[in-house]
Amino acid sequence: VVLVVDFGAQYAQLIARRVREARVYSEIVPSTMPVAEMLAKNPKAIILSGGPSSVYAEGAPRLDRAIFEAGVPVFGMCYGFQLMATTLGGTVDNTGAREYGRTPLYVSRSGSTLFEGTPSEQSVWMSHGDACSAAPEGFAVTASTDVVPVAAFENDEKKLYGVQYHPEVLHSTHGQQILEHFLYRGAGIEPSWTTGNVIEEQVAAIREQVGTKRAICGLSGGVDSAVAAALVQKAIGSQLTCVYVDHGLMRKGETEQVEKDFVAATGVQLKVVDAQERFLTALAGVSDPEEKRKIIGREFIRVFEQAQAEIVAESAGTGEDVAFLVQGTLYPDIVESGGGTGTANIKSHHNVGGLPEDLEFELVEPLRQLFKDEVRMVGQELGLPEEIVQRQPFPGPGLGIRIVGEVTKERLDLLREADAIAREELTAAGLDREIWQCPVVLLADVRSVGVQGDGRTYGHPIVLRPVSSEDAMTADWTRMPYDVLAKISTRITNEVADVNRVVLDVTSKPPGTIEWE
Ligand code: XMP
Repeated sequence: VVLVVDFGAQYAQLIARRVREARVYSEIVPSTMPVAEMLAKNPKAIILSGGPSSVYAEGAPRLDRAIFEAGVPVFGMCYGFQLMATTLGGTVDNTGAREYGRTPLYVSRSGSTLFEGTPSEQSVWMSHGDACSAAPEGFAVTASTDVVPVAAFENDEKKLYGVQYHPEVLHSTHGQQILEHFLYRGAGIEPSWTTGNVIEEQVAAIREQVGTKRAICGLSGGVDSAVAAALVQKAIGSQLTCVYVDHGLMRKGETEQVEKDFVAATGVQLKVVDAQERFLTALAGVSDPEEKRKIIGREFIRVFEQAQAEIVAESAGTGEDVAFLVQGTLYPDIVESGGGTGTANIKSHHNVGGLPEDLEFELVEPLRQLFKDEVRMVGQELGLPEEIVQRQPFPGPGLGIRIVGEVTKERLDLLREADAIAREELTAAGLDREIWQCPVVLLADVRSVGVQGDGRTYGHPIVLRPVSSEDAMTADWTRMPYDVLAKISTRITNEVADVNRVVLDVTSKPPGTIEWE
């Protein structure tokens, strides 16, 4: 394993992903973890991430010097670089010499381990206020910029390397290559981590964990629960039962996709619970977004628990008790729930498939080591259909939070039609990858005047919200082609009754969130 020491902000996750792209398994640890504990994990290499602090700030995270003396190769990036410099006796000045964004880097030693085979001038992504003016003793300076005399250094004998910039971001043109040089050449690691290995490893682990007992899994139609279920199905076959709660807030064709395509691809035992009436009744008269989210979350759990109780009752006394619950928890969920203190609650996210705490089940979480793109690769390798594996994110509360106003059956049907048209046209235009997701929102409490045929209409607006994003934490509205927008608009106003206007949301996140509620 390669450890990525997290000094805050969001750099560590990106670094961990890049290490895995280099086919080396990586894990993130907090910078507060004692060095002895890190070393006890027997890492083949350690990477120190960037972070928001100045090494001179009071309370700035530090590291025990022992980390550099254990004989484990270490690579410091940005804050990690400065920390390495100061800890080992180099000089970092608070000169006010700032660099932000794309910066030219001049490589001064082409024979260096990190920069071998890369151009002598390359573009890198900088973000720092302090600057290193002298490398620690025994280190060779390998690169500089117009502002910083020591922008990279290495001590090949001790296997210690550092760069002032962020090689993990795509704007650093040779970043991945330099990271790979550290892993392969500096640390001597063989790239061998593949999704094929993950599947084999997980299948064995699941068999061992579950034994001859039974497991259940909540399917939401999303990528994560589908891949988790397929993986567990591969491991224990008919000992698994999946439950799909149809709350009536799904998009057109979604329930059918789970019922047919997923079952066809995996052969899983599926229990579909039709709970549409129940959700509509519970949502009647409610317009407040948070209240809607809470109701949907609560009802979902009730229905799921009921289905679960039925399955448990059916298996009772057969000697195959249901003892396990499968969840599609991903690595970022684990990292974030470990380190996510003090973040404001913007919306109560309800993860359909996320279940109550007092469950008497043991959890099976076969994706807990994986990032989203890796989950997709695993799904592909397991033979799941492209439409499931490449699905764009869709919120657990479904169309319920895309109707601004009360949720009713008529409004859901109308929005489902508009959404299906938008999705169809976006796919036809080949925009599914470029667009992260495109919520289609019905402003149910708004009406405007229009003219259709020869008559006056007084109908609702539909909002298109195409966004581009890497992780949904921030997003920008997608500058999509006007003619595709025109086609969607024409079709929606022609084909969907009671809609006479289509508008485009041109707000980034922040300040707007991706969903409207
Ligand atoms: P926001 O609207 O907060 O959305 O910018 C960020 C991402 O999260 C999705 N989302 C949800 N996903 N349960 C989910 O599983 C939820 O309650 C939920 N709310 C928002 C949203 O679609 C976007 O991808």
